[in-house]
Amino acid sequence: MVPRAAAAHTRRVHSLILGIETSCDETAAAVVKDGHVVRSNVVHSQIALHARYRGVVPEVASRSHTERILPIVEQALAEANVAPGDLTAVAVTHRPGMVGCLLVGMAAAKALAWRFALPLLGVDHVQAHVHTGLLHDPTMPLPALSLVASGGHTALYLLSEPGSSVRLGTTRDDAAGEALDKGAALLGLPYPGGPAIEQAAATGRRDAVDLPRTLLGADSLDFSFSGLKTALLYTLKPQQSSAPAEQPTGQRLADLAASYQEAVVDVLVAKLRRAAERHPVRSLCIGGGVARNLRLRERLAQDRVLRSLRLVLPPMALCSDNGAMIAGLAHIRWQQGERDPLELDATATPQAGGKAKAR
Ligand code: KG4
Ligand code: ZN
Repeated sequence: MVPRAAAAHTRRVHSLILGIETSCDETAAAVVKDGHVVRSNVVHSQIALHARYRGVVPEVASRSHTERILPIVEQALAEANVAPGDLTAVAVTHRPGMVGCLLVGMAAAKALAWRFALPLLGVDHVQAHVHTGLLHDPTMPLPALSLVASGGHTALYLLSEPGSSVRLGTTRDDAAGEALDKGAALLGLPYPGGPAIEQAAATGRRDAVDLPRTLLGADSLDFSFSGLKTALLYTLKPQQSSAPAEQPTGQRLADLAASYQEAVVDVLVAKLRRAAERHPVRSLCIGGGVARNLRLRERLAQDRVLRSLRLVLPPMALCSDNGAMIAGLAHIRWQQGERDPLELDATATPQAGGKAKAR
């Protein structure tokens, strides 16, 4: 008998899928062949629009998506040298996200699907991050642990076969990226905070400041980052003090950034190690904006428990929000014979796990 994972990897169904993503602050479209050959991957980031608000403003985001979506789709098709009629299907993020933003991508996808008589596939954004390892490396041995760490989500999944995952743990408060964004704000660093903290941490000492690692008891695979953020706040402005909060600069800023980043990374690595000891997995993959972090990648590669797994670290462009991951998961659903109607709805919340189906 062919093992399950091998069977999935040897089943060859050809496809050429356009993936559209507008759930948050990236307007993105990509063309992916056979679920893993990225022919184009065009992303327009709205970071400059939202930076002054230190977060994504839904109305501003959806208006910008409306302005950008058609040129971005055209560019993705042109860079892939593909005409709409050559496509096998059109895939679009339909959950989770800001509904006004999701609707922009969905309207474009539905119009294309209707005009060119193409099948439509709705994709769960978080599940697309979960499956990014298979997009990058379709030979990734399963089952795999998949960490999704972004500004909106931090969760750990057991990916048993393509299109099928179970959530093992999730954050009880802030997402890892959110913790980095809020920590950066306290430190006077720009938005988004993850890359700003990473840069500031380069010359800092990771053990300079004692910050907590919340592990939520010996068995938990959930995450909690709100205590870390509060601890940083009290480091800068002690609770009993009436003095203004410290505005760190120079080496002190670098030390605080390095210590804060290390605390976030420590928790992510500890939970992955805990999950790997509990579940007989063969690989470990990461996705979401925080997966771009070089210190996290270094720690995963060094960890003595995790080192025994195939470590699948997708390139930076596939970690933050993009259309290729949407097309990648759509290919799996396409192989499994799934299609969605043009009446497909936008949904604000993610699915908890299970089959990576749209409904
Ligand atoms: O996946 P993503 O692009 O958007 C969603 O939130 O869905 O993730 C954005 C998050 C932000 O919180 C940002 O601070 C964080 O990813 N991030 C990073 C890095 N680049 C982006 N965190 C740590 N290190 C980075 N290099
Ligand atoms: Zn995301």
